[in-house]
Amino acid sequence: MDKFLIRGGKPLNGKVEISGAKNSALPCLAATLLTPETVTLHNVPYVKDLITQRRLLEDLGATVLTPELHTQKIKAKNIEIFEAPYELVKTMRASVLALGPLLGRFGQAKVSLPGGCAIGTRPIDLHLKAFEQLGATVSLESGDVVARAPKGRLIGADTYFEKVSVTGTENVMMAAVLAKGITTIHNAAREPEIEDLAELLNKMGAKISSAGTDTIKIEGVEGLNGTEHSIIPDRIETGTFIVAAAITNGELEISKCQPKHLEAVIGKLRETGVEITELDETTIFVKRNGSQLNAKDVTTQPHPDFPTDMQAQYMALMTQAEGESTIVETIFENRFMHVSELKRMGANIHTSGNTAIVDGKTRLMGAKVQASDLRASASLVLAGLCAEGETIIDRVYHIDRGYEMIVQKLRNIGANIERVSDSMAMSAE
Ligand code: EPU
Repeated sequence: MDKFLIRGGKPLNGKVEISGAKNSALPCLAATLLTPETVTLHNVPYVKDLITQRRLLEDLGATVLTPELHTQKIKAKNIEIFEAPYELVKTMRASVLALGPLLGRFGQAKVSLPGGCAIGTRPIDLHLKAFEQLGATVSLESGDVVARAPKGRLIGADTYFEKVSVTGTENVMMAAVLAKGITTIHNAAREPEIEDLAELLNKMGAKISSAGTDTIKIEGVEGLNGTEHSIIPDRIETGTFIVAAAITNGELEISKCQPKHLEAVIGKLRETGVEITELDETTIFVKRNGSQLNAKDVTTQPHPDFPTDMQAQYMALMTQAEGESTIVETIFENRFMHVSELKRMGANIHTSGNTAIVDGKTRLMGAKVQASDLRASASLVLAGLCAEGETIIDRVYHIDRGYEMIVQKLRNIGANIERVSDSMAMSAE
Protein backbone atom coordinates (compact mmCIF):
# COMPACT_ATOMS: atom_id res chain seq x y z
CA MET A 1 0.00 0.00 0.00
CA ASP A 2 1.47 3.37 -0.97
CA LYS A 3 1.93 6.25 1.41
CA PHE A 4 2.77 9.91 0.97
CA LEU A 5 5.81 11.33 2.66
CA ILE A 6 5.55 15.10 3.05
CA ARG A 7 8.19 17.41 4.48
CA GLY A 8 6.13 20.46 5.28
CA GLY A 9 6.69 24.15 5.79
CA LYS A 10 7.45 25.23 2.23
CA PRO A 11 5.25 27.86 0.55
CA LEU A 12 3.78 26.65 -2.74
CA ASN A 13 4.43 28.96 -5.65
CA GLY A 14 3.85 28.77 -9.37
CA LYS A 15 1.17 27.58 -11.75
CA VAL A 16 -1.15 24.63 -11.67
CA GLU A 17 -3.73 23.37 -14.17
CA ILE A 18 -7.01 21.86 -13.05
CA SER A 19 -8.17 18.52 -14.42
CA GLY A 20 -11.64 17.50 -15.54
CA ALA A 21 -14.26 16.99 -12.84
CA LYS A 22 -14.45 13.44 -11.51
CA ASN A 23 -18.06 13.88 -10.43
CA SER A 24 -19.05 15.10 -13.87
CA ALA A 25 -17.08 12.53 -15.85
CA LEU A 26 -18.67 9.67 -13.87
CA PRO A 27 -22.29 10.37 -14.94
CA CYS A 28 -21.18 11.45 -18.44
CA LEU A 29 -19.50 8.08 -18.95
CA ALA A 30 -22.66 6.35 -17.73
CA ALA A 31 -24.71 8.46 -20.18
CA THR A 32 -22.89 6.91 -23.12
CA LEU A 33 -24.97 3.78 -22.41
CA LEU A 34 -28.00 5.67 -23.73
CA THR A 35 -27.04 5.48 -27.41
CA PRO A 36 -25.69 2.85 -29.82
CA GLU A 37 -23.60 5.60 -31.45
CA THR A 38 -20.12 6.76 -30.44
CA VAL A 39 -19.81 9.40 -27.74
CA THR A 40 -16.44 11.11 -27.37
CA LEU A 41 -15.64 12.67 -24.02
CA HIS A 42 -12.70 15.04 -23.62
CA ASN A 43 -11.03 16.26 -20.44
CA VAL A 44 -11.78 13.03 -18.57
CA PRO A 45 -9.50 12.97 -15.51
CA TYR A 46 -7.21 9.97 -15.23
CA VAL A 47 -8.22 8.88 -11.74
CA LYS A 48 -9.08 5.51 -10.25
CA ASP A 49 -12.87 6.04 -10.14
CA LEU A 50 -12.95 6.77 -13.86
CA ILE A 51 -10.94 3.66 -14.60
CA THR A 52 -13.50 1.68 -12.59
CA GLN A 53 -16.40 3.35 -14.42
CA ARG A 54 -14.80 2.52 -17.76
CA ARG A 55 -14.42 -1.09 -16.67
CA LEU A 56 -18.10 -1.20 -15.80
CA LEU A 57 -19.04 0.03 -19.30
CA GLU A 58 -16.79 -2.61 -20.84
CA ASP A 59 -18.29 -5.34 -18.65
CA LEU A 60 -21.74 -4.35 -19.89
CA GLY A 61 -20.55 -4.75 -23.48
CA ALA A 62 -19.55 -1.22 -24.50
CA THR A 63 -16.40 -0.64 -26.53
CA VAL A 64 -14.10 1.96 -25.01
CA LEU A 65 -11.44 3.39 -27.28
CA THR A 66 -8.87 5.53 -25.57
CA PRO A 67 -6.53 6.98 -28.14
CA GLU A 68 -5.47 9.57 -25.60
CA LEU A 69 -5.43 9.42 -21.84
CA HIS A 70 -8.02 12.15 -21.38
CA THR A 71 -10.23 11.40 -24.35
CA GLN A 72 -12.61 8.48 -24.10
CA LYS A 73 -14.50 7.30 -27.18
CA ILE A 74 -17.28 5.01 -26.12
CA LYS A 75 -19.65 2.98 -28.26
CA ALA A 76 -22.40 1.19 -26.38
CA LYS A 77 -23.88 -0.59 -29.41
CA ASN A 78 -23.91 -4.17 -28.22
CA ILE A 79 -25.10 -4.06 -24.64
CA GLU A 80 -26.18 -7.52 -23.60
CA ILE A 81 -25.71 -7.37 -19.86
CA PHE A 82 -27.78 -5.00 -17.77
CA GLU A 83 -26.11 -5.50 -14.46
CA ALA A 84 -23.51 -3.69 -12.34
CA PRO A 85 -22.10 -6.46 -10.14
CA TYR A 86 -21.27 -6.29 -6.44
CA GLU A 87 -17.50 -6.44 -7.10
CA LEU A 88 -17.65 -3.06 -8.85
CA VAL A 89 -20.33 -1.36 -6.77
CA LYS A 90 -18.51 -2.16 -3.54
CA THR A 91 -15.39 -0.39 -4.80
CA MET A 92 -17.27 2.58 -6.22
CA ARG A 93 -20.77 3.72 -5.35
CA ALA A 94 -21.03 5.80 -8.52
CA SER A 95 -21.62 2.51 -10.41
CA VAL A 96 -25.27 3.04 -9.40
CA LEU A 97 -25.26 5.65 -12.18
CA ALA A 98 -25.65 2.74 -14.61
CA LEU A 99 -29.22 2.20 -13.33
CA GLY A 100 -30.80 5.24 -14.99
CA PRO A 101 -29.39 4.78 -18.52
CA LEU A 102 -29.92 0.99 -18.59
CA LEU A 103 -33.49 1.34 -17.39
CA GLY A 104 -34.13 4.22 -19.80
CA ARG A 105 -32.77 2.53 -22.92
CA PHE A 106 -33.38 -1.17 -22.31
CA GLY A 107 -36.23 -1.11 -19.78
CA GLN A 108 -34.25 -3.22 -17.33
CA ALA A 109 -31.34 -2.82 -14.94
CA LYS A 110 -29.81 -4.67 -12.04
CA VAL A 111 -27.32 -3.04 -9.70
CA SER A 112 -25.96 -4.44 -6.49
CA LEU A 113 -27.37 -2.31 -3.66
CA PRO A 114 -24.47 -0.20 -2.38
CA GLY A 115 -23.81 -0.52 1.32
CA GLY A 116 -22.77 2.36 3.54
CA CYS A 117 -19.33 3.83 3.08
CA ALA A 118 -16.83 5.66 5.26
CA ILE A 119 -18.67 9.00 5.17
CA GLY A 120 -22.21 7.77 5.79
CA THR A 121 -24.98 5.26 5.09
CA ARG A 122 -25.72 6.81 1.70
CA PRO A 123 -28.93 5.04 0.69
CA ILE A 124 -30.33 5.21 -2.86
CA ASP A 125 -33.99 5.03 -1.82
CA LEU A 126 -34.76 8.37 -3.47
CA HIS A 127 -33.37 7.24 -6.85
CA LEU A 128 -35.57 4.14 -6.66
CA LYS A 129 -38.67 6.04 -5.61
CA ALA A 130 -38.29 8.34 -8.61
CA PHE A 131 -37.87 5.37 -10.97
CA GLU A 132 -41.13 3.98 -9.58
CA GLN A 133 -42.80 7.31 -10.27
CA LEU A 134 -41.68 6.85 -13.89
CA GLY A 135 -43.53 3.53 -13.97
CA ALA A 136 -40.70 1.11 -13.11
CA THR A 137 -41.12 -1.83 -10.79
CA VAL A 138 -38.28 -2.00 -8.34
CA SER A 139 -37.43 -4.99 -6.16
CA LEU A 140 -34.55 -6.16 -4.03
CA GLU A 141 -33.35 -9.64 -4.97
CA SER A 142 -30.43 -11.20 -3.10
CA GLY A 143 -28.82 -7.85 -2.44
CA ASP A 144 -29.42 -6.53 -5.96
CA VAL A 145 -31.78 -3.76 -6.97
CA VAL A 146 -33.76 -4.98 -9.96
CA ALA A 147 -35.67 -2.33 -11.90
CA ARG A 148 -37.92 -2.95 -14.88
CA ALA A 149 -40.13 -0.80 -17.07
CA PRO A 150 -43.25 -2.98 -17.46
CA LYS A 151 -43.78 -2.29 -21.17
CA GLY A 152 -40.08 -1.85 -21.89
CA ARG A 153 -40.27 1.94 -21.65
CA LEU A 154 -40.62 4.38 -18.78
CA ILE A 155 -43.43 6.91 -18.71
CA GLY A 156 -42.68 10.58 -18.03
CA ALA A 157 -44.01 11.80 -14.67
CA ASP A 158 -43.65 14.38 -11.90
CA THR A 159 -40.91 13.27 -9.51
CA TYR A 160 -39.99 14.88 -6.23
CA PHE A 161 -36.78 14.45 -4.19
CA GLU A 162 -37.44 14.78 -0.46
CA LYS A 163 -33.72 15.46 -0.05
CA VAL A 164 -31.47 16.99 -2.69
CA SER A 165 -29.43 14.20 -4.28
CA VAL A 166 -26.72 14.75 -6.88
CA THR A 167 -26.45 11.23 -8.35
CA GLY A 168 -30.18 10.75 -7.75
CA THR A 169 -30.98 13.72 -9.98
CA GLU A 170 -28.47 12.47 -12.57
CA ASN A 171 -29.90 8.94 -12.55
CA VAL A 172 -33.45 10.18 -13.03
CA MET A 173 -32.41 12.59 -15.79
CA MET A 174 -30.73 9.73 -17.64
CA ALA A 175 -33.72 7.43 -17.14
CA ALA A 176 -36.21 10.06 -18.29
CA VAL A 177 -34.57 11.22 -21.53
CA LEU A 178 -35.90 8.18 -23.39
CA ALA A 179 -39.20 7.91 -21.48
CA LYS A 180 -42.55 8.46 -23.16
CA GLY A 181 -43.76 11.97 -22.33
CA ILE A 182 -42.62 14.71 -20.00
CA THR A 183 -40.79 14.29 -16.69
CA THR A 184 -40.34 17.01 -14.13
CA ILE A 185 -37.77 16.63 -11.36
CA HIS A 186 -38.74 18.76 -8.36
CA ASN A 187 -36.16 19.67 -5.70
CA ALA A 188 -33.43 18.67 -8.14
CA ALA A 189 -29.75 19.10 -7.32
CA ARG A 190 -28.25 22.25 -8.84
CA GLU A 191 -24.57 21.29 -8.95
CA PRO A 192 -22.54 22.31 -12.05
CA GLU A 193 -22.09 18.58 -12.73
CA ILE A 194 -25.87 18.32 -13.30
CA GLU A 195 -25.70 21.09 -15.88
CA ASP A 196 -22.73 19.43 -17.55
CA LEU A 197 -24.56 16.13 -17.83
CA ALA A 198 -27.65 17.88 -19.21
CA GLU A 199 -25.49 19.63 -21.80
CA LEU A 200 -24.03 16.30 -22.92
CA LEU A 201 -27.48 14.67 -23.05
CA ASN A 202 -28.91 17.58 -25.06
CA LYS A 203 -26.02 17.27 -27.52
CA MET A 204 -27.04 13.61 -27.82
CA GLY A 205 -30.54 14.75 -28.81
CA ALA A 206 -32.28 14.87 -25.44
CA LYS A 207 -34.70 17.66 -24.55
CA ILE A 208 -33.78 18.83 -21.07
CA SER A 209 -34.46 22.34 -19.85
CA SER A 210 -33.68 24.25 -16.65
CA ALA A 211 -30.85 21.98 -15.46
CA GLY A 212 -29.02 23.96 -12.81
CA THR A 213 -32.32 25.03 -11.20
CA ASP A 214 -34.34 23.04 -8.69
CA THR A 215 -36.98 22.10 -11.27
CA ILE A 216 -35.72 20.22 -14.31
CA LYS A 217 -38.00 19.43 -17.27
CA ILE A 218 -37.30 16.53 -19.61
CA GLU A 219 -39.27 15.81 -22.76
CA GLY A 220 -38.67 12.17 -23.67
CA VAL A 221 -37.36 11.38 -27.17
CA GLU A 222 -37.36 8.16 -29.24
CA GLY A 223 -33.58 7.76 -29.48
CA LEU A 224 -30.26 9.48 -28.86
CA ASN A 225 -27.24 10.01 -31.08
CA GLY A 226 -23.47 10.15 -30.67
CA THR A 227 -21.68 13.42 -29.96
CA GLU A 228 -18.55 15.04 -28.51
CA HIS A 229 -18.32 16.79 -25.18
CA SER A 230 -15.66 18.25 -22.92
CA ILE A 231 -16.00 17.67 -19.17
CA ILE A 232 -16.04 20.79 -16.94
CA PRO A 233 -13.06 21.51 -14.66
CA ASP A 234 -13.03 19.97 -11.20
CA ARG A 235 -14.28 22.63 -8.76
CA ILE A 236 -13.20 20.62 -5.71
CA GLU A 237 -9.65 20.19 -7.04
CA THR A 238 -9.66 23.95 -7.68
CA GLY A 239 -10.77 24.65 -4.11
CA THR A 240 -8.15 22.26 -2.76
CA PHE A 241 -5.35 24.12 -4.58
CA ILE A 242 -6.68 27.48 -3.38
CA VAL A 243 -6.39 26.16 0.17
CA ALA A 244 -2.93 24.75 -0.64
CA ALA A 245 -1.73 28.26 -1.54
CA ALA A 246 -3.37 29.79 1.53
CA ILE A 247 -2.25 27.22 4.07
CA THR A 248 1.40 27.34 2.94
CA ASN A 249 1.44 31.11 2.58
CA GLY A 250 2.27 30.75 -1.10
CA GLU A 251 1.14 32.28 -4.38
CA LEU A 252 -0.55 30.20 -7.06
CA GLU A 253 -1.93 30.82 -10.50
CA ILE A 254 -4.65 28.24 -11.03
CA SER A 255 -5.75 27.81 -14.63
CA LYS A 256 -8.28 25.74 -16.60
CA CYS A 257 -10.79 26.20 -13.79
CA GLN A 258 -14.30 27.71 -13.60
CA PRO A 259 -14.36 30.17 -10.66
CA LYS A 260 -18.10 30.65 -11.16
CA HIS A 261 -18.61 27.02 -10.08
CA LEU A 262 -17.18 27.65 -6.64
CA GLU A 263 -18.45 31.06 -5.64
CA ALA A 264 -19.36 29.97 -2.10
CA VAL A 265 -15.88 28.54 -1.52
CA ILE A 266 -14.12 31.56 -3.00
CA GLY A 267 -16.39 33.91 -1.02
CA LYS A 268 -15.70 32.12 2.26
CA LEU A 269 -11.94 31.97 1.68
CA ARG A 270 -11.89 35.68 0.86
CA GLU A 271 -13.65 36.32 4.20
CA THR A 272 -10.81 34.49 5.97
CA GLY A 273 -8.25 36.76 4.35
CA VAL A 274 -7.21 34.81 1.27
CA GLU A 275 -6.76 37.05 -1.74
CA ILE A 276 -8.30 35.49 -4.86
CA THR A 277 -8.17 37.44 -8.12
CA GLU A 278 -9.91 36.30 -11.28
CA LEU A 279 -7.38 36.89 -14.06
CA ASP A 280 -9.86 35.72 -16.69
CA GLU A 281 -12.86 33.38 -16.91
CA THR A 282 -10.75 30.28 -16.31
CA THR A 283 -7.74 31.51 -14.35
CA ILE A 284 -7.36 32.75 -10.80
CA PHE A 285 -4.45 34.02 -8.75
CA VAL A 286 -4.34 33.16 -5.07
CA LYS A 287 -2.25 34.58 -2.27
CA ARG A 288 -2.65 35.26 1.39
CA ASN A 289 -3.53 38.86 2.05
CA GLY A 290 -1.11 39.66 4.86
CA SER A 291 0.05 36.88 7.12
CA GLN A 292 -3.05 36.46 9.24
CA LEU A 293 -5.99 34.21 8.45
CA ASN A 294 -9.25 34.86 10.28
CA ALA A 295 -11.45 32.06 11.59
CA LYS A 296 -14.85 31.96 9.85
CA ASP A 297 -17.74 29.57 10.38
CA VAL A 298 -19.03 27.33 7.65
CA THR A 299 -22.06 25.08 7.13
CA THR A 300 -22.08 22.61 4.26
CA GLN A 301 -25.16 22.66 2.04
CA PRO A 302 -26.09 21.56 -1.49
CA HIS A 303 -24.90 23.80 -4.34
CA PRO A 304 -24.75 26.78 -4.66
CA ASP A 305 -23.80 26.83 -0.96
CA PHE A 306 -20.55 25.58 0.56
CA PRO A 307 -19.88 21.99 -0.63
CA THR A 308 -19.37 19.07 1.72
CA ASP A 309 -16.51 17.98 -0.56
CA MET A 310 -14.51 21.04 0.61
CA GLN A 311 -15.29 20.72 4.33
CA ALA A 312 -12.24 18.66 5.29
CA GLN A 313 -9.82 20.88 3.38
CA TYR A 314 -11.39 24.01 4.88
CA MET A 315 -10.99 22.53 8.35
CA ALA A 316 -7.26 22.02 7.74
CA LEU A 317 -7.04 25.71 6.81
CA MET A 318 -8.97 26.79 9.91
CA THR A 319 -6.31 25.19 12.12
CA GLN A 320 -4.11 28.03 10.84
CA ALA A 321 -6.65 30.82 11.36
CA GLU A 322 -6.76 33.15 14.37
CA GLY A 323 -9.79 32.40 16.55
CA GLU A 324 -12.55 29.87 16.73
CA SER A 325 -14.43 28.54 13.73
CA THR A 326 -17.54 26.37 13.81
CA ILE A 327 -17.89 23.91 10.97
CA VAL A 328 -21.26 22.21 10.54
CA GLU A 329 -21.59 19.20 8.22
CA THR A 330 -25.20 18.77 7.10
CA ILE A 331 -24.85 16.41 4.11
CA PHE A 332 -23.16 13.29 5.46
CA GLU A 333 -23.43 11.97 9.01
CA ASN A 334 -19.88 10.69 9.36
CA ARG A 335 -17.66 13.12 7.54
CA PHE A 336 -15.32 14.17 10.34
CA MET A 337 -12.85 11.31 10.17
CA HIS A 338 -10.00 13.66 9.35
CA VAL A 339 -10.52 15.33 12.76
CA SER A 340 -8.74 12.66 14.81
CA GLU A 341 -5.83 12.69 12.35
CA LEU A 342 -5.56 16.49 12.32
CA LYS A 343 -5.55 16.36 16.13
CA ARG A 344 -2.62 13.93 16.02
CA MET A 345 -0.78 16.68 14.15
CA GLY A 346 -1.54 19.18 16.90
CA ALA A 347 -4.85 20.69 15.80
CA ASN A 348 -7.26 21.78 18.49
CA ILE A 349 -10.68 20.54 17.34
CA HIS A 350 -13.75 19.47 19.32
CA THR A 351 -16.67 17.70 17.70
CA SER A 352 -20.21 17.23 18.88
CA GLY A 353 -22.58 15.51 16.47
CA ASN A 354 -22.35 17.25 13.12
CA THR A 355 -20.45 20.25 14.49
CA ALA A 356 -16.71 20.74 14.79
CA ILE A 357 -15.14 23.66 16.58
CA VAL A 358 -11.63 24.48 15.49
CA ASP A 359 -9.58 26.57 17.87
CA GLY A 360 -6.76 28.25 15.95
CA LYS A 361 -4.11 29.02 15.37
CA THR A 362 -2.12 25.89 16.19
CA ARG A 363 1.32 24.83 15.11
CA LEU A 364 0.94 21.58 13.19
CA MET A 365 3.65 18.97 13.59
CA GLY A 366 4.34 16.18 11.12
CA ALA A 367 2.95 12.80 12.20
CA LYS A 368 1.89 9.43 10.88
CA VAL A 369 -1.73 9.71 9.85
CA GLN A 370 -4.27 7.65 8.02
CA ALA A 371 -6.53 8.68 5.15
CA SER A 372 -10.13 7.50 5.49
CA ASP A 373 -11.81 8.87 2.37
CA LEU A 374 -11.03 11.04 -0.62
CA ARG A 375 -11.52 14.52 0.82
CA ALA A 376 -10.15 13.56 4.24
CA SER A 377 -6.96 12.54 2.42
CA ALA A 378 -6.79 15.95 0.76
CA SER A 379 -7.18 17.60 4.14
CA LEU A 380 -4.26 15.60 5.54
CA VAL A 381 -2.07 16.44 2.55
CA LEU A 382 -2.81 20.15 3.12
CA ALA A 383 -2.06 19.84 6.83
CA GLY A 384 1.17 17.97 6.02
CA LEU A 385 2.24 20.72 3.62
CA CYS A 386 2.10 23.36 6.35
CA ALA A 387 3.26 21.18 9.25
CA GLU A 388 6.76 21.22 10.66
CA GLY A 389 8.68 18.05 9.95
CA GLU A 390 7.63 14.84 8.25
CA THR A 391 4.11 13.61 7.73
CA ILE A 392 3.44 10.11 6.49
CA ILE A 393 -0.07 9.57 5.15
CA ASP A 394 -1.20 5.97 4.93
CA ARG A 395 -3.95 4.57 2.66
CA VAL A 396 -3.48 7.15 -0.08
CA TYR A 397 -5.42 4.95 -2.50
CA HIS A 398 -8.33 7.09 -1.39
CA ILE A 399 -6.77 10.19 -2.94
CA ASP A 400 -5.98 8.31 -6.15
CA ARG A 401 -9.74 7.89 -6.65
CA GLY A 402 -10.28 11.56 -7.36
CA TYR A 403 -7.16 13.74 -7.64
CA GLU A 404 -5.24 13.43 -10.89
CA MET A 405 -1.44 13.35 -10.53
CA ILE A 406 -1.64 15.03 -7.15
CA VAL A 407 1.97 14.32 -6.20
CA GLN A 408 3.34 15.59 -9.53
CA LYS A 409 1.16 18.70 -9.47
CA LEU A 410 2.24 19.56 -5.92
CA ARG A 411 5.91 18.89 -6.64
CA ASN A 412 5.74 21.20 -9.67
CA ILE A 413 4.77 24.07 -7.38
CA GLY A 414 7.47 23.37 -4.84
CA ALA A 415 6.01 20.84 -2.42
CA ASN A 416 8.31 18.31 -0.84
CA ILE A 417 6.05 15.29 -1.27
CA GLU A 418 6.73 11.80 -2.52
CA ARG A 419 4.86 8.59 -2.94
CA VAL A 420 6.56 5.76 -1.16
CA SER A 421 5.85 2.08 -0.87
CA ASP A 422 5.52 0.49 2.56
CA SER A 423 9.14 -0.60 2.82
CA MET A 424 10.48 2.79 1.71
CA ALA A 425 8.31 4.57 4.29
CA MET A 426 9.79 2.39 7.02
CA SER A 427 13.32 3.30 6.01
CA ALA A 428 12.39 6.98 5.91
CA GLU A 429 11.33 6.87 9.56
N1 EPU B 1 -29.58 10.47 0.22
C1 EPU B 1 -30.62 9.69 0.67
N2 EPU B 1 -31.25 8.88 -0.23
C2 EPU B 1 -30.89 8.83 -1.55
C3 EPU B 1 -29.83 9.64 -1.99
C4 EPU B 1 -29.18 10.46 -1.09
O1 EPU B 1 -30.96 9.71 1.85
O2 EPU B 1 -31.52 8.08 -2.31
C5 EPU B 1 -28.86 11.35 1.17
C6 EPU B 1 -27.40 10.96 1.35
O3 EPU B 1 -27.24 9.92 2.29
C7 EPU B 1 -26.79 12.26 1.79
C8 EPU B 1 -27.57 13.30 0.98
O4 EPU B 1 -28.80 12.65 0.61
O5 EPU B 1 -27.02 12.46 3.14
C9 EPU B 1 -26.91 13.82 -0.27
O6 EPU B 1 -26.37 12.75 -1.00
P1 EPU B 1 -26.20 12.79 -2.59
O7 EPU B 1 -27.11 11.75 -3.16
O8 EPU B 1 -26.33 14.17 -3.10
O9 EPU B 1 -24.70 12.29 -2.73
P2 EPU B 1 -24.16 11.42 -3.90
O10 EPU B 1 -24.89 11.74 -5.14
O11 EPU B 1 -24.07 10.00 -3.48
C10 EPU B 1 -22.39 13.11 -4.80
C11 EPU B 1 -20.90 13.12 -5.00
C12 EPU B 1 -20.20 13.17 -3.65
C13 EPU B 1 -20.66 14.45 -2.93
C14 EPU B 1 -22.19 14.45 -2.80
C15 EPU B 1 -22.74 15.72 -2.19
C16 EPU B 1 -20.65 11.90 -7.06
C17 EPU B 1 -20.19 10.68 -7.76
N3 EPU B 1 -20.51 11.93 -5.73
O12 EPU B 1 -22.68 11.94 -4.03
O13 EPU B 1 -18.81 13.26 -3.90
O14 EPU B 1 -20.09 14.52 -1.65
O15 EPU B 1 -22.78 14.29 -4.11
O16 EPU B 1 -22.37 16.82 -2.93
O17 EPU B 1 -21.09 12.85 -7.69
C18 EPU B 1 -16.52 13.06 -3.39
O18 EPU B 1 -16.27 13.43 -4.56
O19 EPU B 1 -15.63 12.98 -2.51
C19 EPU B 1 -17.90 12.72 -3.03
C20 EPU B 1 -18.20 12.00 -1.96
